[in-house]
Formats: sequence, C-alpha cells, structure tokens
Amino acid sequence: MKIEFYRHNIGDKEKKDVCKVLDSIFLTTGDVVYEFERRLSKYVGCEYTIGLMSCTAALNLSMLAHGIGPGDEVITTPMTFIATSTSIIHVGARPVFVDVKPETGNIDEDLIEAAITRKTKAILPVHLYGNMCNMVKIRRVADKHGLVVIEDAAHAIEAERDGYKVGALADAACFSFYAVKSITCGEGGAVSIHDKKKAEILRKLSLHGMTKSAADRYAGRYKHWDMDMLGWKYNMSNIQAALLLKQLKNIEKYWKKRDEIARRYEEAFTKIEGIGFPKVPPRSKSGRHLFTIWVDPIKRDKILWKLQSKKIGVAVNYRAIHLLKYFIEKLRYKRGTFPNAEKIGNSTISLPLYPKLSDKELCYVITKVKEIVQST
Ligand SMILES: Cc1ncc(COP(=O)(O)O)c(C=O)c1O
Repeated sequence: MKIEFYRHNIGDKEKKDVCKVLDSIFLTTGDVVYEFERRLSKYVGCEYTIGLMSCTAALNLSMLAHGIGPGDEVITTPMTFIATSTSIIHVGARPVFVDVKPETGNIDEDLIEAAITRKTKAILPVHLYGNMCNMVKIRRVADKHGLVVIEDAAHAIEAERDGYKVGALADAACFSFYAVKSITCGEGGAVSIHDKKKAEILRKLSLHGMTKSAADRYAGRYKHWDMDMLGWKYNMSNIQAALLLKQLKNIEKYWKKRDEIARRYEEAFTKIEGIGFPKVPPRSKSGRHLFTIWVDPIKRDKILWKLQSKKIGVAVNYRAIHLLKYFIEKLRYKRGTFPNAEKIGNSTISLPLYPKLSDKELCYVITKVKEIVQST
C-alpha cells in the first residue's frame, strides 16, 4: 500500500470544463477567469479578486500595489515557505522576521510592535497550516503605526477567526492554487482586496502594465492599448480558471472531509509521548491545509525516513527560512535568533491530509506513526 502525500480532487466534471475552454477561441484571461474571480470574491467576502499565476505573484503584486519598495521593511515570519520572503526581497524591501508562537507556529503578534522601525511599511502574516494568526491584534498594531497588512493565505482560503474570514482585516489576501493546495490548477493564485483603485493597479501590474487586456481588445472594434506602468506577466488563464471553478463550488465539502481527518489525527496523537501538533486557535475555523506532527528534533529525520520506508508520503513544512543559506549570507540571520521557529522547523513532519484519503489509509498512517515514534 502506497499512501501518497497528496491527491487532488480533479475529476471528470473539471476535465469537461477544461475541454470546453479548449474547444473555444479564448484560452488566456477572459470570461472564465472573471467568473472564477467573482465567485472567489463572494466566497471570501472581499470586493475584488484578481486571478494570477501563483500566490508568489499575488504577494509580489500586493507589495507593489501598496507602494512597498527599496529601503522598506516588512515584518513577517520565518516559519513559512520561502515565497513569503522572496516576494518582499523582489520588490527591494527587507523581510524582518519575528519569532512564532510555540503552540501554533504562527507569527507572535505580541512581538510585532518591538520590530517596527521608521522603515517598516507592512506586516505580512502567514496562516500556517490553515490556522489563522490573531488578525484582530495584527490589524490594531498596523493601524496604530499606519502599516499595510498583506496576508499570506496560501494555506487558509477556508479559514476564519474571531468572526472574521481570511481577508476581512487585511489590505490584501493572497491565495495559492499550487499542486497540493485545497483547490488546485497545478500552478495558480489570486489576490482578494477591498480597495477598488488598488485592485485596478494590481490587475494592470499582472499584465505588463497594459491598459487593455486581450479580452478587452478582442471585444468589438479594435482598440489600441497603452502602457502606463511597469508590470509583470502574472495573469491567470481561462484553462486554469476552468479547472478551479467546480472545485471552488465544492470547497466546503472538501474542507469538511479534511477537518474530519485532522480531528482523527488529533484524537489519535493526543497524550502520545513524543508526538505534538499545532493547536487550532480558539474561536477559529482552521483551513486544515496541512496536518503536521512535532517530534523530537534529534529523531525527526529518522522518523521521516522510516515513514517513507512504510510507503507513507510525508513532507517538511517548513524548516525555518532564516537559516537557509541565502538568508544567512545576504540578510545575516543567525542560528538561535528565533528559537520557537527553529524548534518547530526541526521537529515538523507533515502527514497525508486530503479528501480522498480512505479510512483504511488513515488508520494505517496513525498506527505507523505511533509505532515508529515510540520505537525511534
Ligand atoms: C505559505 C506559502 N506561501 C506562499 C506560497 C507560494 O505559493 P505559489 O506556489 O502558489 O506561488 C506557498 C506555496 O506552497 C506557501 O505554502
């Protein structure tokens, strides 16, 4: 029995929708993308959504649309995927890390204020594994100091906390539809935003800074386009959107299944010596994107490899990024600076979590995890 780390939910209905696009004239950004954007806006409760090629693109453009650039600082977390920080570096700004909370792995909102300097322009929280950061507090700190809040919601499209959905308290929320995300088109992303002007800038930035898209040019009499800002080529295609539309319709159904599986893991691993896991914050709905266990850092890799030898798909999300070579060399970060993030990064093992994971597979994973952790 091989238990994959992830299996997507794309089936015949999604394939049919893609074929419909392929049989049409218009493959690039057009009606299907706009339909997806409308539905995603409605789902997350933001006024505007722009479909993009990735969450990295969404983070990058959100930063540009809010005027963040060379010389600026953005406060963020080292316990995340590198894209959170590389998107800051790509606009010429500096990621300033603060440590995470030991019980969730999310940015410690109480440490943010001490990291603010005259150069700080934004806070970039990441809702790790789908568990939302304390956005009420983060918004309060941001408002006090006149900062922008950009959410990395790559794991958390379904998440809520303290009565607020993801995106509600941020200036922009960035989503990923990468291959292992809860809804996926292989590679894809989006940004949801409340401000109309910023949304227009973001859309323009996503397509070279052109004043008209191909869809605009194609409709009716030919219209010339201009370019009034330096943009990127980050737009989502109708093919990607066609893959996503039905998945978005089923997003809560998929979430429910993942939530059930995650609760089974939690139940099975509670009070098992040598196994910890992040706590879902109070008054919140976790996006349940990843289920990760925390084991003895000294034994982590051995446990990881033993699980693989039992044909269980595993991953590490993530090793603390300030200790990656680039960050040490270019930003001069040192070991020991963010002890909670470092500990989590050295302890973490992500287990299979997806709707197609059968009960038999889940029981097998739970049994093997317990056996291996206890015997290592
Ligand atoms: C927390 C986080 N942020 C950003 C990204 C980047 O997403 P994408 O691959 O869509 O650019 C990922 C991708 O895995 C992620 O996990």
